[in-house]
Amino acid sequence: MGIAFESLSSDIAGRCGRLTVGKKTVKTPALLPVINPHLLLVTPKELQAMGIEALITNAYIFSQSKQFRERALCEGLHRLLDFDGVVMTDSGSFQLSVYGQVSITNTETLSFQRDIKSDIWVPLDIPTSPASDRKTTEEELAITIQRLREAKEIFGRDAPIAGPVQGGIFEDLRERAGREVTDLGFSFCPIGAVVPLLESYRYRDLVAVVMAAKRTLSPSACIHLFGAGHPSMFALATAMGCDLFDSAAYALYAKDGRYLTVHGSYRISELVDLPCACAVCRSHTAEELRSAPDRERLLALHNLHVTLAEIARIRQAISDGTLWELVDERCRGHPQLLSGYRALLDHAAELEVRDRVSKRRFFYRGDESCRRTEVLRYQQQLDRLPVGKNILVAFDGGERDVFDTTLLFKPPFGPYLWELKETFPIGPSEIPEWDEAMVRQGCRGIRLIQESHPESRITVCCSPRWEPVIREVLGDIGVTHDPS
Ligand code: GUN
Ligand code: ZN
Repeated sequence: MGIAFESLSSDIAGRCGRLTVGKKTVKTPALLPVINPHLLLVTPKELQAMGIEALITNAYIFSQSKQFRERALCEGLHRLLDFDGVVMTDSGSFQLSVYGQVSITNTETLSFQRDIKSDIWVPLDIPTSPASDRKTTEEELAITIQRLREAKEIFGRDAPIAGPVQGGIFEDLRERAGREVTDLGFSFCPIGAVVPLLESYRYRDLVAVVMAAKRTLSPSACIHLFGAGHPSMFALATAMGCDLFDSAAYALYAKDGRYLTVHGSYRISELVDLPCACAVCRSHTAEELRSAPDRERLLALHNLHVTLAEIARIRQAISDGTLWELVDERCRGHPQLLSGYRALLDHAAELEVRDRVSKRRFFYRGDESCRRTEVLRYQQQLDRLPVGKNILVAFDGGERDVFDTTLLFKPPFGPYLWELKETFPIGPSEIPEWDEAMVRQGCRGIRLIQESHPESRITVCCSPRWEPVIREVLGDIGVTHDPS
């Protein structure tokens, strides 16, 4: 019994890990498809054949179902669903947030989840709406925490119970929630009540609440982003340290005639062609898909394929250390995602602490790249460079004998010693022709050397084109022009 999580490799604050629940393991990041036993577009067995190791279903639906309640209690969920991976059950909380009340208590739902042999149980947390005021949010958070405490007291500290983090849109309440959930000993922590933010594209707010919760949650806790199912935001969420997603989107979108892509979704009536390599899309034209009798199921299969492929891509990016590049790419699919990405970059200092030392490469993708964790870290270390009294920063790479130290220059990082030229990030970074944003950022690196070595005198040798940028960042500094 019990839930354990191990991080195996990481990039930014994202990790590839292994979640262990009893004897079963799940590779993370992972997608838990949401299963509604009353409308199965794709069976759990088929999901397992697609490589799905865990799924999530709603205990409240089973407890209220004439058809399934007794079977679930007799056979257990795994036999009923014909799935031997990890089955997580949600409580009635989602119904609570949609319908206002549920006829079940916290201990009743947890006992029921235990009795139907769920692998991960969720208490009756209160998903506070982002529209709620501070007082309501605080009161509801107190009730949620009380129910989590009750869950531990009644079912024991090793019971496989999730500890949802609530707190609405108040960052300090999310921090408080993260701290209390950690203190109560939860190692599997869903971040709750983000669905309304996702539905209205409020990615900036999403970043604020997830970063706040992560600040106080244990780094060794497995983090599930409750109700997040659109693959366009998985990279962004993973970069913050979310390990699990659960998606009803593949099925809900299919019912609604919508076709998922990592850049956004289409109504199938709009599609002239099917821009995807999955079996459904390669064996149907757009017209055939629209008029297929099993259109909903075909769309669900495609939607799952796209979602799973994105998870695989994220795992590869973490392994390579190219998650920032993937986040950058995905977040250009919608202006609000770009806004979320910029909000994430505002947290670069916090993320830098978690970020890994070396990566396969650094691709410059525009102004946003100047604010990445690798640039910040590189510049934070510049005061350690051994430099003499008379320093040349040679933009053109040429040495001059009259200086004690010659530094080369690579934007957006800044000055570097020749000896560092093959090391990360200087060597493996690919940048296009220099632009103002990257040169300005690199000049901040020169300024840091100037500030940490006030006794040294720095001269920059550059083409006249960069002199205004240098003067703007460095003030009255010596500038000479290279011959070119
Ligand atoms: N599903 C989506 N959001 C939530 C949440 O905040 N709590 C629970 N229990 N389930 C959810
Ligand atoms: Zn497809």
